[in-house]
Amino acid sequence: MNQHKATARAPANIAFIKYWGKTDSWTRVPANNSVSMCLSEFHTLCTVEISEQFAEDMVSFRGEAVVAGGELERITQVLARVRKLTGQSLFARVATRNNFPKATGIASSASGFAALSAAAVEVYGAKLNQRELSVFARQASGTACRSVPDGFVEWLSDDGAGESYAVSVHSPDWWNICDVVAIVTKKMKKVSSTEGHALAQTSPFYQARLLGMPAKVMALKQALAQKDFSHFGALLEAEALNMHAICLTSTPAVVYWEAPTMSMIRSIVEWRERGAVESYFTIDAGPTVHAICRAEDSGELAQRLAAIAGVREVVVNKPGLGVRLVDRHLF
Ligand code: DP6
Repeated sequence: MNQHKATARAPANIAFIKYWGKTDSWTRVPANNSVSMCLSEFHTLCTVEISEQFAEDMVSFRGEAVVAGGELERITQVLARVRKLTGQSLFARVATRNNFPKATGIASSASGFAALSAAAVEVYGAKLNQRELSVFARQASGTACRSVPDGFVEWLSDDGAGESYAVSVHSPDWWNICDVVAIVTKKMKKVSSTEGHALAQTSPFYQARLLGMPAKVMALKQALAQKDFSHFGALLEAEALNMHAICLTSTPAVVYWEAPTMSMIRSIVEWRERGAVESYFTIDAGPTVHAICRAEDSGELAQRLAAIAGVREVVVNKPGLGVRLVDRHLF
């Protein structure tokens, strides 16, 4: 053990090609590769302290000693895994803080579990490289593995040797695009993404989605490599609708959108068709809309989205770094 306390900061990420459905729900092996971008403005800070004085694991969220039930269990499972890995038995105190509302479709589990994984691995003295940390974080929450590497990221469902983790395909400065995030509600969503993943299999269209995935991932990566914005945008928008088509046709159906979500979808398409501003929407498991645009259009787009009824807050994100250890602890 090197120290008693470690803190990590991890970004949220937005998927251009989605992770929706798993082949192993316990270890969170995804049914397909996905492609994402780390976000510059949304992150989680997580401090983990270990001590002989602690009689159990304790977790607080935003300073409140919360986290009970399923959420606590998910966090203590991460601690248990790192204890197993290092042969240690000390309990931990965990504090975690997001700078954005959780469970509204801004990937709070991605940043949260990436930060927790990195801090826990550090404080218990497990020596993991980036790839191993991505594998470790994946098992806590699938999308967390994509918040480990920097910039534009691909999560490999299988690397050819039976392992699944995310790798950086381009650094953050590769392409000057933005994710203009329009937050609709600060209420927690009703159906968690973990439940949504399990329901995906019940959609009659799910197998068709999976069949099209390899070609779609390749096309999107090519548009990213060529910085072909219009093609890139068309692909990511179609992919978001494809994922939500699975949600809508699952049994029971999962509808993540709210009325302002639909207003934004319509407006984004209309602004684009009128030549006012070229952006493309994507939506995760929640009502929040992510409008992807060129950096020079982000101010104009943010203003337009903020004027739509029901939009509570708009935040412009650039491509960001992956997880990092930081010196300033939360307690
Ligand atoms: C809709 O990572 O939240 O954001 O592995 O069960 O924790 P678990 O699921 P989670 O999946 C969310 C997926 C998504 C799409 C995406 O980001 O790829």
